[in-house]
Amino acid sequence: MIVPLNYGWKYVPEYKKEFLSSFPSVHEIVDIPHINRILPFSYFEDKYTQFTSSYEKEFEIPQIDGQKRYLLVFEGFSTQADIHVNGFFVGHYISGYYEIQVDVTDFVKTGNNRLLVILDSSFDKNIPPFGGQFDYYPPGGIYREVRLEIRPRIFLNNIRITGLMTGKLVIDKTIHNQDAGKYEVSYELYYHDKIIAFFNEDHAEIGKVNPWDLDSPELYKLNVKVTSAYGEDVSSHFFGFRDVKFTKEGFFLNGKHIVLRGLNRHQAYPYVGYAMPKSGQELDADILKNELAVNIVRSSHYPPSRHFLSRCDEIGLLAFIEIPGWQHIGPDDSWQALYRQNVRNMIKEHFNHPSVIMWGVRINESHDNHDLYAWANTEARLMDPYRPTGGVRYLKNSEFLEDVYTYNDFVHDGTGKGVENPDKVYKKKVPYMITEYNGHMYPTKSYDDTDHRISQALRHFRVLNDSLKYPRISGVIGWVMNDYNTASSFGSGDHVCHHGVLDSFRQKKWAAYSYLSQTDGKPVMQVLSPLALGDNREAIRGDVYVASNVDYIELYMNGKYINRYYPDRKHYKYLKHPPFYIDDFIGDKIYGDIFSKRDADYIKHIMNLGAGKGLKGIPFYKYIKVGLLMLKYRIRYKDLMDLWFKYVNHWGNEGNSYSFVGFIDNAEVIRRNISDNAAYSLKAETSKPVLTPGDTYDVMSVSVRLTDQNGNIGYYANIALKAETAGGIEVLGPSLFTLQGGQTCVYVRSKNKGKGTLTITTENYDPLTVSVEVR
Ligand code: GAL
Repeated sequence: MIVPLNYGWKYVPEYKKEFLSSFPSVHEIVDIPHINRILPFSYFEDKYTQFTSSYEKEFEIPQIDGQKRYLLVFEGFSTQADIHVNGFFVGHYISGYYEIQVDVTDFVKTGNNRLLVILDSSFDKNIPPFGGQFDYYPPGGIYREVRLEIRPRIFLNNIRITGLMTGKLVIDKTIHNQDAGKYEVSYELYYHDKIIAFFNEDHAEIGKVNPWDLDSPELYKLNVKVTSAYGEDVSSHFFGFRDVKFTKEGFFLNGKHIVLRGLNRHQAYPYVGYAMPKSGQELDADILKNELAVNIVRSSHYPPSRHFLSRCDEIGLLAFIEIPGWQHIGPDDSWQALYRQNVRNMIKEHFNHPSVIMWGVRINESHDNHDLYAWANTEARLMDPYRPTGGVRYLKNSEFLEDVYTYNDFVHDGTGKGVENPDKVYKKKVPYMITEYNGHMYPTKSYDDTDHRISQALRHFRVLNDSLKYPRISGVIGWVMNDYNTASSFGSGDHVCHHGVLDSFRQKKWAAYSYLSQTDGKPVMQVLSPLALGDNREAIRGDVYVASNVDYIELYMNGKYINRYYPDRKHYKYLKHPPFYIDDFIGDKIYGDIFSKRDADYIKHIMNLGAGKGLKGIPFYKYIKVGLLMLKYRIRYKDLMDLWFKYVNHWGNEGNSYSFVGFIDNAEVIRRNISDNAAYSLKAETSKPVLTPGDTYDVMSVSVRLTDQNGNIGYYANIALKAETAGGIEVLGPSLFTLQGGQTCVYVRSKNKGKGTLTITTENYDPLTVSVEVR
């Protein structure tokens, strides 16, 4: 039996000895997942959540059963805790990013029980990832769920299920208390709720199965029954049948070559840090798959929530997960013992997820350490002979003990090559994957200027493109999905690393479209320019790019056809969907004006170049050629300037409008309009239709954006907003906040069943009202 213990904990952000006998009468009532202190969005001290806090939970056991064991399971807290039950000290436990099982059989009683957790959330240098500097911020709190499990004295403690494409099934299990008497284990295999096999051995040949893959993530369920004199212990476990292989020729899933394209993810959210329940975790996986069109995520730099991985299983998103740490290996045996335990626990906890295709057993970007990493690879292979190991490093030719050379390649600096030639990174031809790029090379905020935001997007395009040049590269995983809170010595001095292709609220920056435009699933088109001359130096229009997966784009200006454009295959010859460079805003308007067609084309070319790069961006020899044309047609500099203002510089002209029309197979599939003098209003978009609390509260994200009538975001809008709720919902985080670069999001949590309303008000724009049902 499983009893969730997430609602209604008493909480105080401190600890005193007398709490052991009675909890302070002045306290907060909180639900789990919980952060010990709500974070400001940015600008806080490293110490902000590093303190000891006290949590108390009362729970009922109607009748103690002597045949059973009573286990408290903590899915994750930061970082270490003393656990007391009914006044007895049960033990000291370290969790961090791992599940902790506390056997409280000897401490519980019939009736009311009192659980007290004294939680130390300091960055204890004796526990990984702590001890050195590190670029992330693990906030304190019991941030993953808690439950009581009541199980027969002999029960299934852990099961590792491998399903292969051929239908072969291999089981590795641990039975708790197996010496306490005789027991029997039986298995039932289900596919879509239909039983398809039952057996007792730890291996089986199922025959034809539907393999788990990216397009059809087929899941099977194994029901396990352990029968003993103490009763039946029954549990269900989802898994998939699939083969994964990294080779010198790339990555193969079920024998099919797949080019991996992905992003790293930190599980950090604004205000609540790590404390995000199931649907928030699931939403991140959905965003990666559907809004960023990637096929792999790296869970940097620690194992993620089981809800996140289960969602990856359900939707067909691959995951590379690793143990906690950042560049530092603690010198002490005790630190290294915890590291070893972390390797084992990661594999134990997340083994059955078919989405997980590799174990990251090396501390991210740490130096070589032969003994430690030889042990880790051997251990991982023993525990899981079917999955490869990786170990993320930034070092060339570092000691290669893993199955895949996983390398952070930061060679691209906005010019030159996007990636290193893998042959130059590691001397031998071994399976190879790029696990980070960009990130700190070019921090970018949604409200940075146009040039900056375009550059971020192009950097991602270039790495994606250049990596495809080398068939040896299994794939690339960019830094990073979302902006994240970090320690003071990293980030932009504000405790935020603005490295994401999404901001902290998971709102898209333009770089998000470098990924999304690679999909074939739906038409995508994002113009990487507001076409606002006044935003640029010299009031030029600047280079205009479009991220899109269409065959070609036609541009209309003020309703008049200008030209047709094709993807830029010259600079991005390996990408399926290169960005478009819109190099002509003049079209044939110029013909018949003064010049012959040929000379008009040259003048047009020069003017388009000037509009994109500025007058200094036109090479000198081209000026000479223009001079010769001036002589030929007997025109003066002023005449040329007249042409410039007529065709190019619309600065100050009233009411320009642009339509970018995208075609696939010669049919219009998507259109984006941009016009001056647009009308703006606030819009809200909810991540799901209703809140459905269960084992714990539920959360939805309500994206709030200032957009014009064409759906274009007002990127420089940082206006103040106020959120108020009525009914069964509450806002997680502050009720006063601002848009950040025209967008933000409000996290709304369930409180009570029934209807609720979120109202967002501001000055100058109409308020928003969002109705939310809690079911
Ligand atoms: C890497 C590191 C990441 C992050 C990134 C920023 O070196 O592994 O955690 O700090 O740099 O680009």
